[in-house]
Amino acid sequence: MDQPKRYLITAALPYANGLKHIGHLAGAYLPADIYVRYLRAQRRDVAFICGSDEHGTAIPIQAMKEGTTPRAIIDKYHELIKENFTDLGISFDIYHRTSEPIHHETSQEFFLDLHSRGELEVKESEQYYDEEAKTFLADRYIMGTCPVCGYQRAYGDQCENCGTSLSPDMLINPHSTLSGKPPIKKSTAHWYLPLDRHEAFLREWILQKHKDDWRANVVGQCKSWIDGGLQPRAVTRDLDWGVKVPLPEAEGKVLYVWFDAPIGYISATRQWGLDTGKDWKPYWYDKDTKLVHFIGKDNIVFHCIIFPVMLKLHGNILPDNVPANEFMNLEGDKMSTSRNWKLEMQDYIDDFIKKDNGGPQLADSLRYYLTTISPETKDSEFTWKGFQDANNSELVSIFGNFINRTFVLMHKLCGGKVPPLHNAILDDADRTMIREIENAKPRIEALLEQYKFREALFEVIDLSRKGNKYMQEKEPWIVARTLTETPANQGLIDNCLHICLQLSANLAILINPFLPFTAKKMLHMMKVVEKILDWENAGKMNLLSVGYSLRAPELLFRKIEDEEVTAQVEKLKAASAAKAQTEPAPAPSGKAAPGTPAPSETPTAQPAKPTIVYDDFAKLDLKVGTILQAEKVEKADKLLKLTVDMGAEQRTIVSGIALHFSPADIIGTQVVVVANLAPRKMRGIESNGMILMAEDKSGKLHFVSPGDKIDAGSGVS
Ligand code: MF3
Ligand code: ZN
Repeated sequence: MDQPKRYLITAALPYANGLKHIGHLAGAYLPADIYVRYLRAQRRDVAFICGSDEHGTAIPIQAMKEGTTPRAIIDKYHELIKENFTDLGISFDIYHRTSEPIHHETSQEFFLDLHSRGELEVKESEQYYDEEAKTFLADRYIMGTCPVCGYQRAYGDQCENCGTSLSPDMLINPHSTLSGKPPIKKSTAHWYLPLDRHEAFLREWILQKHKDDWRANVVGQCKSWIDGGLQPRAVTRDLDWGVKVPLPEAEGKVLYVWFDAPIGYISATRQWGLDTGKDWKPYWYDKDTKLVHFIGKDNIVFHCIIFPVMLKLHGNILPDNVPANEFMNLEGDKMSTSRNWKLEMQDYIDDFIKKDNGGPQLADSLRYYLTTISPETKDSEFTWKGFQDANNSELVSIFGNFINRTFVLMHKLCGGKVPPLHNAILDDADRTMIREIENAKPRIEALLEQYKFREALFEVIDLSRKGNKYMQEKEPWIVARTLTETPANQGLIDNCLHICLQLSANLAILINPFLPFTAKKMLHMMKVVEKILDWENAGKMNLLSVGYSLRAPELLFRKIEDEEVTAQVEKLKAASAAKAQTEPAPAPSGKAAPGTPAPSETPTAQPAKPTIVYDDFAKLDLKVGTILQAEKVEKADKLLKLTVDMGAEQRTIVSGIALHFSPADIIGTQVVVVANLAPRKMRGIESNGMILMAEDKSGKLHFVSPGDKIDAGSGVS
């Protein structure tokens, strides 16, 4: 496609069920932002669309975990994630939500349209059902023993321990996570998108038309899907959280999250149209629109196979490209939310950007490193040492150093003004440098157009490296010593600094898509308006006018100290060790980021822990207590607030057992309390101690009690 009329750029809608980590950022949002900023600098018509994916079982599962409602979960994480993106300079035109009425409407219309065209099939099938909770069970709500590795808390869709994809039928001793009871099978009707009808289209569109311009990993995944045989996919679910299926006979059913979420791109575009007064329709219907989906590799089939079939049936345009990234590992291991092996955007923002010596330049430091290790063709690895090196020896020592030297010398040797260029005395080195500046633009442009962001950024830094080398050869500070003897040598100094200043302005333009905060700072130093960052200005040698006075240099980047990176590595290890103590750790081969963070469950039977000595055990102050009062904690489905008689005193203890016991039933029960556990606030209530519980195979909890009724306060050892 040459020169499309407009661009529609989407980045995968993150699930609003938790904070997102830098694997997500590097996978979709950062490359999309670089591309969009480049397009905007070209004055192209572009809409950059993203927002929260607020449906699917991930949300209610997180709500159960946090002891709150799905609504509270999406409200919380939508705002947090949105702000994180802003702090990191991700410049969406809209960050919408799939919980908005306009989205429910849009996706219901979409469904009805396919339905009325006869493009959906209805089929009855047997699904798992929880008789006690009176609800069908999504695969994630069923747990049991993994048939492959014997792990007892495998989910109905995947074993977190060995990484095997499962179906609930494969689990040994399957049970519902809602009631603990074994699920039964019950017949239910669902609507299916018959992908098998579209095989010829998909083969031609992906495996022929796009076999060369799409990334090999993307085409490869699609090919194995198609070759594996396309099946009808259910697009509805028995669930009470999501977009209602708009048919009278579909009471109690919602659209499958992977049906409604990508339609979220369309509803967000509609909302953006309303907000800006633009007509949104051509963005989704006009063939002159270039649609590009930025995603992580775990989203490939949805964006390359299922959604395109939906778009085709509905009369929309198809994506021109889907540049999916591979995964990014962290310090030698896969990033994982369930194992707490990750760096959240929030943590980076708190520890670097929002510190005294922080600021937006540190957003650019992260953007820089993540782009240099962008997993475009294979998995890559984030290490704190690598981050420090990239920042210190590339941003600070090469790019920052070049700009700084140029401005310092211009003030020292040229009176703080842009010196003239004396054509008559230009030498080979000058001419080579000028040619390098002129040639950089088409090279970088070609790479950006092919979504090769890491190479494109390398070219920009390389240009500044050449600038440093040029200045080092010219040594204007040495030439300055000859001026009393040979005043004409000022011409040599002028030429060098004139070229270096024009190069600085060029670097501001070229770095802008990658490091927008840095480009802004450079504008300020050069006292020029944003318009100069227009891409068409790249390659020009007259961006700063002769005689124009410029500001003193500002530091563009700061060094990252050794202590900072060691502290981060330690923090990472401590966080994952803390998690491993409360939860059985799945093996590192488990599914990694950037996908759905695996919902984790309550503490449970643990694999053997390391041996301890008696002194370790003796540190625990265990006492018998009698429960005097019990009440539910507001807005926390899982928590009970207990008043416990400990003999000499009464204690308030908050316990996560509300799903297992009703308050009235446990009054008078004798329990064993860890009496010397440090106090902890939960939902604003200070909890003083912990009650020991035993968990049976089905996940049901039982109190640990003395056999006979004894005095409250009795010691346990
Ligand atoms: N929420 C999904 C994930 O994080 C991505 C949804 S992309 C969309 O994997 F296209 F469905 F919106
Ligand atoms: Zn397993």
